[in-house]
This record gives sequence, structure tokens and C-alpha cells, in this order.
Amino acid sequence: MDKFIINGGRPLVGEVAISGAKNAAVAIIPAAVLSDDVCRIENIPQISDVTNCLRILYEMGASVKTVNAHTIEIDPRPIRTHIVPHEMAKKMRASYYLLGALLGRFGKASVSMPGGCDLGPRPIDQHLKGFEMLGADIALQDGMISVFADRLVGNSIYLDVVSVGATINIMIAAAKARGLTVIENAAKEPHIVDLANFLNSMGADIRGAGTDVIKIRGVEHLKGTAYSIIPDQIEAGTFMVAAAATGGDVLVNNVIPKHLESISTKLIEAGAEVIEYDEAVRVRRVGPLNKCVVKTMPHPGFPTDMQPQISTLLSVADGTSIVSEGVWDNRFRYTEQLARMGANIQVNGKVAVIQGVEKLKGAPVKANDLRAGAAMLIAGLIAEGTTEIEDIQYIERGYENVEEKFRRLGADIKRVTLPSTAAKVG
Ligand code: EPU
Repeated sequence: MDKFIINGGRPLVGEVAISGAKNAAVAIIPAAVLSDDVCRIENIPQISDVTNCLRILYEMGASVKTVNAHTIEIDPRPIRTHIVPHEMAKKMRASYYLLGALLGRFGKASVSMPGGCDLGPRPIDQHLKGFEMLGADIALQDGMISVFADRLVGNSIYLDVVSVGATINIMIAAAKARGLTVIENAAKEPHIVDLANFLNSMGADIRGAGTDVIKIRGVEHLKGTAYSIIPDQIEAGTFMVAAAATGGDVLVNNVIPKHLESISTKLIEAGAEVIEYDEAVRVRRVGPLNKCVVKTMPHPGFPTDMQPQISTLLSVADGTSIVSEGVWDNRFRYTEQLARMGANIQVNGKVAVIQGVEKLKGAPVKANDLRAGAAMLIAGLIAEGTTEIEDIQYIERGYENVEEKFRRLGADIKRVTLPSTAAKVG
């Protein structure tokens, strides 16, 4: 197991290039299963969630070819099974997109209950309701979810909660259903639009992605395609917050500034300067950090996946900030780790009251989950002294080459490999 050691207190300065979007990649890779030919996918991020996704398809029989570091080709035609291997599927949330994909391809799918970050209860009732409304039967047994349908038929599906995962899963399953499917109260995140664009490039007929009504007219066949994944909104936001938090000056390249508006707005309120270019944003801060009120919401609101990072910045802002979590029930666990570094944060249910302190002090901390880990990185970068972050495997699920990217911006960060317990004993 590795850990990061950061000597904090240096402003980040320079340029960073943002990788492809994790949450688009983990939807697009399973969706490639619907193709009748090879799909070439570019701008794939090198992160463990993507590696896992590709390994699952490979284990199921697909041909997965690495063209270069960020381009792969998937030929799903050799897949002969509708059962997703349990050991791999349970490691990651997005394995459940294979329910929609295999249902669309074979009319049946079995996947174990999904894993993923522990953010409180993560029900999938809206996914299952969607499949049922498309005509599928569902069985839950021994931790496995199985769905079956002789023929999927389009329907009008109203989501009771705005769910990214349910919108994606239903869109994938409906791409080849008979007739028209309408998803109402759909999620509008950039990766929903990216998935729709990917499916459309294969010959699907999907309109309205990015609005709350998505219309999918099913087609008989989906062909091969070459498609490039959008930049990662949350990786970009994480570097933007890190730049502002350290009082730095960073040009964040390879982004879609429109996707970053809610983050840019909060950073400006907090005292940073944000300049937008066509495919880059520059974040700079010279003056003090100001308190803010932040409420996370589905897109285009402030993203929940940026909540731990912005709260970390606010932990050293002047005054009292209020951060409300509007998506997940339990996404403030990382504040206990920040408290070890001197932050003053009171959490009451889904609201955190952050009394800014003058500085954080380095301490040994843990990454509780992916974005909590990103928060620990930012905390380590702004803290006085040395911070050691354990459980960095969570960070590696979603950030490509993160220590190298921060190091190039002037951070004093290194990775240390800890001897495994077995090695110590043996
Ligand atoms: N929900 C239900 N029923 C459902 C599905 C969701 O009640 O059937 C509820 C959830 O409990 C939650 C809310 O709806 O309160 C939103 O959940 P959503 O389905 O939108 O989340 P998700 O698809 O499981 C994705 C991202 C998360 C991100 C959320 C919200 C992926 C693989 N994961 O999760 O990303 O926080 O959308 O934007 O796309 C991360 O990248 O760190 C991460 C956790």
C-alpha cells in the first residue's frame, strides 16, 4: 500500500492538463457492449476505475486493445455471457451499467450489487423501475441483480429522484428497445450528454440529453465508432480549488469552461480570480480567502463531487462558511480527518458549519473515499508542515497521475510504498 507525503505551504504555479472524464468513461465503456463492431475510445483516463471496467469486459470475452496510453479499442462481439464476474463487479459502482448494456444486447443480465464510495445509502430503485417500465423482469438473489426481457419496449419513465446512474442505465438499455422511450426528470450532468453523443455516433437516436427530458428512439443495430471522451469536470475543479487554496496561479488546460461555471463562481466569491479561455481556465489568488455559502445540487448546481475540496478551502477562509450537501446523506466523514489538521468544522446531518482557521497543520490522515482523498491532498498542500495520506488507492480510482501533476505545479509531494503486512511477517 502506498501513501502520499506532502510538505505543504507552497503556492501552486504553472500549467496542468486535465484527463478524460472518469464518470463518462465508466458509462461509455459498458455502453460499447451494444456495438456490432469495434469501438475506438480516445481520451480515456488512466485510473483504476477504468482499468477495472476494461478488465470486466475482457474477462467476459471482449477483445480490448490498447492503442496508446489514452486510446483503446473494444470489440464486444466475442462476449458470450450475460453474467458479470462478481469479484470485479463488486469493486466499483459503475459495473451496474452492464445491467443496461447486457439487457440491451442479450435481453438478460446478472450483476452483483455494486460497490463504490461509501456516501450513505445508494439505492438503485430508479434503475430497476426504468428496466421494468421497458418490459424487463427483475430478480434479486444472493447479492445478484438479474434482469430479463424477451424484447424491450420503449415507455415514458419519470424518475422520482434526479439520478445520474439511473438516467445512464435507462438510456443504454433503451438505445435498442422497440419504439420511443422518454426519460423525464433526467439528470443533466456533462457525462450524460457525452454518453448520448457516444451512442448517437454509433447510430442511436437520442435527443434532449443535457435537459431534463431525454427522448430515445430505439434502433435495431449500433455500429462501431471512434469517439473522444470529454475532459473531467471534477479533476479540473480539484486543480482549480487547489490553485486558489494555495494562493497560486494555475492554467488548467484541456477543459470545457462551461462545465466549470458553478465552481468558478464559488472560487470568485471566495476571493480568487478566474479567467476563461476557449479550452482552459486560469485560477489565481493574491488576496485573502472569503467565507461562502455552498449547496451541492445536481448539474448545473455546484457538484457534490467538489464538496470536500471546496470545504477544505473554506476551512482556512475568513469567517464562517455554510456548506449543505444536497445529494448524498453521508458525505462529511472527511471532516474528522481535517479536524486532525486543525480545521474547525461542525457537522449536523447534511450541513457543515466551517469556522475558518488561520492555517492547517500537517498530520497523518486517511482518504476515506475518492473525493475525500482529493480534499486531503488540498489540505496537505495548504498546511504548514508534513501531511501523510494513507489509503490513496481511493484517490487512484479517479485521478490520473495525481502526484506528478501536482509536483509539476511546484508541490512537494512524494509517494512512499509501504511494505505489505505479509512481507513484514514473512
Ligand atoms: N438515488 C435513489 N435511487 C436510485 C438512484 C439514486 O434514491 O435508484 C439517489 C441517491 O441515493 C442519491 C441521489 O439519488 O441521493 C443521486 O444519486 P445518483 O444516482 O445521481 O448517483 P450515482 O449515479 O450513484 C454518480 C457519480 C457520483 C456522483 C453522483 C452525483 C458515477 C459512477 N458516480 O453516482 O460520483 O457523486 O453521480 O453526481 O458516475 C465520484 O465520482 O466521486 C462519485 C461518487
